[in-house]
Amino acid sequence: MSDTQKITPRDPGFSFADDLPVNWHSDDPAISHFYNGLSLTFPEGERFFVDSVRHFADEITDPKLKVDVRGFAGQEAIHSREHVVYNQYLAKQGLEPEKIERLVTYGLRMGRKLPKKTQLAITCALEHYTALFAEAILENPKVMEGAHPQFANLWRWHALEESEHKAVAFDVFKTVDPGVGGYLRRIIAMTLTTINFNLSALGNQIYLMKKSGELTNWRSWGRSLRHLWGREGVWRHVMKGVFSYYRPSFHPNDRDTDALVAKWRTWYAADIQSS
Ligand SMILES: [Fe+2]
Ligand SMILES: [Fe+2]
Repeated sequence: MSDTQKITPRDPGFSFADDLPVNWHSDDPAISHFYNGLSLTFPEGERFFVDSVRHFADEITDPKLKVDVRGFAGQEAIHSREHVVYNQYLAKQGLEPEKIERLVTYGLRMGRKLPKKTQLAITCALEHYTALFAEAILENPKVMEGAHPQFANLWRWHALEESEHKAVAFDVFKTVDPGVGGYLRRIIAMTLTTINFNLSALGNQIYLMKKSGELTNWRSWGRSLRHLWGREGVWRHVMKGVFSYYRPSFHPNDRDTDALVAKWRTWYAADIQSS
């Protein structure tokens, strides 16, 4: 995102009525549960992101970055809150998401014992994942085609803000851990995060499929495979973009998403804010 654009938290206040469809994406359990499984990691995950950046608040001297950190923290706090409501809806559907949430909390409690710079490197890796995921959602209308508008709007709003603040944690990391040491730390963190994040995304999806009695719905698994890994698959887009992170000169803004962000800001103002 260019220097002139400000990172402003929005407050959509989504509510989740009990009669929303369980299989909200394409009437398909495996596709819906892929997104639901990610949502279960967000409340605790995003608190971890904010804390890992805030540890270094005193070391940031650049006035623009200071402002961006405040915007980033404000956006992630509202993401956490909205995904708590989303996850409560999943609980009401009898999916027992608490078990996954407890596992996420335990994993992050372990993560908080790591050196603070390593915690920030993990945040940068996951922010690269969320930025790529956001790009796929915003760029390719097919990703949310067939989704219930309530959920599509939530994912698009979250994607917009992830694109807006995609460079903040990385810029803080470059400030506090520059050079070869910082490079090694961030690529090791990315490698471990890639293994962990992919396994947990699949594990959460399997758990939710089991809970909803759809574990052996192979037709649905096939559709999910195409949605995630097909020619225009959302996860295929993400994984293709992960490798660029290993370039020593990598920066999140190497991928120019300014036009995409501008387009979806207009959408939010017209369709969500004013509704
Ligand atoms: Fe977020
Ligand atoms: Fe984020």
